[in-house]
Amino acid sequence: MRHSEAMSLEFAAKIRRIPVYPVAAGYDLGTDVAMLASNESAFAPLPEVVEAANRALAGAHRYPDPAYMPLRRALSDRYGVPVERIALGNGSCDLLLAAGEALLEPGAEVVYAWPAFSVYPHLAASSGARALQVPLDGDQRHDLRALAGEVTVATRLLLVCNPNNPTSTALGLDQVQALLEAVPRYVCVILDEAYCEFALTLGDPQASVELLARWPNLVILRTFSKVYGLAALRVGYALCGSETFRTAVDQVRQPFYLNAAAQAAAVEALVHQDEVERRVVKTLAARGGLVDGVRSLGLWVAESDANFIWVRLPRGAGDGDAELSAGEAAVVAGLRERGVLVRAGSPLGGPGAMRVTVGTPAENERFVTALGALVQG
Ligand SMILES: Cc1ncc(COP(=O)(O)O)c(C=O)c1O
Repeated sequence: MRHSEAMSLEFAAKIRRIPVYPVAAGYDLGTDVAMLASNESAFAPLPEVVEAANRALAGAHRYPDPAYMPLRRALSDRYGVPVERIALGNGSCDLLLAAGEALLEPGAEVVYAWPAFSVYPHLAASSGARALQVPLDGDQRHDLRALAGEVTVATRLLLVCNPNNPTSTALGLDQVQALLEAVPRYVCVILDEAYCEFALTLGDPQASVELLARWPNLVILRTFSKVYGLAALRVGYALCGSETFRTAVDQVRQPFYLNAAAQAAAVEALVHQDEVERRVVKTLAARGGLVDGVRSLGLWVAESDANFIWVRLPRGAGDGDAELSAGEAAVVAGLRERGVLVRAGSPLGGPGAMRVTVGTPAENERFVTALGALVQG
């Protein structure tokens, strides 16, 4: 049979259901571009962190430590959670997908707010479970009462993105606690705190960890991709209320999911908390400037508790989703022409808006100037 005559491959039905992750474009555009599309850190890793990764590479003929003990011990020391209740992942996305595989199946339900992190819809699509998406409130915040109201005997997983990606808003811990009180203990609650270090509303990143002592069904998900600036190395972790979550997510994954250079870099990154703090302070100052700049153009910006902002764009003619998306696409394309990459709201579940990462002061200024030219003419 010639190649062109070959029959097309028959994939599992879930391949037709699983959405394609909306990756940001522009990674191949060169250096003169402000990369404000993926909520990465504006700061490169510290030299000590790069050196630690390089040292690990010298031993790359060996498989990495399959129990990842140095990193789990370092996280245990930092957060006071026993190593048995610390799960690691190839990015926190890896842990999210593993949680879906471990908890969901046809007949089960998963509840989350929408728009929230764009990986969440994959969990139901790949497992055949039912997804209940609860709209955010008018301030682009989670509606916790409505979320709790969707929990049934079939619910296995409830996801709370705090601060929420893409809308940047955060709930106070008192509200999170009220939700935990309202949810039965057989429901795993994943509190996705990828951006918690930037959240003034949450305060000390240790505070939510204290909730684990009371709620064994709680899992706090965090990452080295954001505040620690290690997005390319892919390290995430979960602080778990019970050991069973860790063993289950380890069962569904390949044995060596976290490479040695990434492990070594993460251990070293944890040592430099003073520098992490300094970077947070600089990011929050830059965020303030960015928000002021956008608001001075007359646009609505959500109350940000993250290293990104959520901006509502002017409506075109009409008020359907199509008009909103067209207006948004024009602004995002105009920004791209001016060397600024941001994320359009529609692929993230929020038509008529855009998400902008806090960059360096120069990048932020370039963005505000370009946006001003587009919305004010
Ligand atoms: C809310 C949220 N959770 C999890 C992640 C996953 O991050 P990573 O897989 O890089 O740890 C992201 C990344 O953008 C995110 O925004």
